[in-house]
Amino acid sequence: MSLRDRAVLVTGGAGFIGSHLIDRLILEQPSRLVVVDNYFLGSDANLVAARAAYPNVEVLRLDASNLAAMQDVVTAHGIETVFDLAVVPLPTSLTYPNWTVMTNIGITATFCEIARRGLIERLVHMSSSEAYGSGRYVPMDEGHPDDAITPYAAAKAAEDHIIRSYIQTFGIDATVVRPFNNYGPRQNPGTYAGIIPIVIQRATRGLPIEIHGDGEQTRDFTFVRDTADLTVAIHETPEARGLEINVATGVGTSINTLVSRILEIMGIPDHPVLHTPERPGDVRRHVADASRLVSLVGRQPSVLSDEALFETVEWYRSFLG
Ligand SMILES: NC(=O)c1ccc[n+]([C@@H]2O[C@H](COP(=O)([O-])OP(=O)(O)OC[C@H]3O[C@@H](n4cnc5c(N)ncnc54)[C@H](O)[C@@H]3O)[C@@H](O)[C@H]2O)c1
Repeated sequence: MSLRDRAVLVTGGAGFIGSHLIDRLILEQPSRLVVVDNYFLGSDANLVAARAAYPNVEVLRLDASNLAAMQDVVTAHGIETVFDLAVVPLPTSLTYPNWTVMTNIGITATFCEIARRGLIERLVHMSSSEAYGSGRYVPMDEGHPDDAITPYAAAKAAEDHIIRSYIQTFGIDATVVRPFNNYGPRQNPGTYAGIIPIVIQRATRGLPIEIHGDGEQTRDFTFVRDTADLTVAIHETPEARGLEINVATGVGTSINTLVSRILEIMGIPDHPVLHTPERPGDVRRHVADASRLVSLVGRQPSVLSDEALFETVEWYRSFLG
C-alpha cells in the first residue's frame, strides 16, 4: 500500500499532528495532496514547510463533517486514501459538549459513508487513547474497555465503533490508528492548549506552573514526528487493514516528572510550581501496550527524550517571540 503516486486527502491537516503527517507524506511522493481544515484550531503557519516542499498541496477551508462537500472533494480530486484527523478538541467538549460530539462523530460518519459508496479505497482514522479512559490496567492494549470520561472521549469511542461497524457490515478498507499524548512543535499554544505548550508559555512569562491534582497522573508522551511516521508505516502494511493500533512508547511519565524535565531544559529548575484542584475528566493512568504496532511494522515511537523536548521548547520560544 505504497503512497507513492497516490491521491491523498488529510482532514485536520492544518492542525498539530495533521501538519506533521503532511510533511511526512510528502516524502512518499503522492500524486496529489489535499488538505481539508476549517481552521477551528488549524493554522496556515503549520503548512509553510509543506507548501515549500510540495507547492501543489491544495488546502480547502471546509467542514469535514459535511458529507456532500466531502463527496465533491474526493470525487473532484480522485482521492484514493483519506487520513482523517479533523477534530474538535477535548477542552471544547467541556464547554460545548453537544457541538463537539455531533461534529466529531459527523466527520467520521462522513468518511465511512464515502468509503461505503466506493469513492475512496482506503480510510485511516485517527482515534485517541482518551477512548479507553483511565487505565483499568497498564499497559493498555487495544482490548482495553472503552471507559470514556469526557464527551470528547465518548465521541472518539463512538467513532471507533462506527468504523468497526462499517468494516464489518460493508467491508470498507479502514484502519484505526490510536495515538497517546503527543508533543512537539506546532501544538496549538492558544485557547485549548495541551500541557506542554501551557508549561512552556507560563515559564517563559515568569508565571507559576499549575499542575492539576497531585501531578502523579501518568501519560505516554509520544513525539509527533514519530506518530506521523508510524501512521504512514501502518498505511503501508496490508495486515493492518481492519485493525485498531496503539501508537505510543509503552512508557509512562508523570506530570510532575514532565514539568521538572521541561523546567530543567529551560534552565529554570527552581521555577515555582503550584498544585490546583483536579480537572474534571482527567484520566489517572495512561500507558500503552504497543506490541501490536511492533509486530505489524517492526518499530514503535521513541521514549520521551530531552532532545525532542528541547526541540519543542525551542519552537515555542521562537513562536512566542
Ligand atoms: N494531540 C494529541 O496528543 C492526540 C492524542 C491522541 C489522539 N489525537 C488525535 O489526533 C487527531 C489530530 O489531533 P491534533 O492534536 O492534531 O488536533 P488539532 O486541533 O491540532 O488538529 C485538528 C484539526 O482539525 C481541524 N478541524 C476541527 N473541526 C473541523 C471540521 N469540522 N472540519 C475540518 N477541520 C476541522 C482544526 O482546525 C485543526 O486544524 C485527532 O483525531 C485527535 O483525536 C491527538
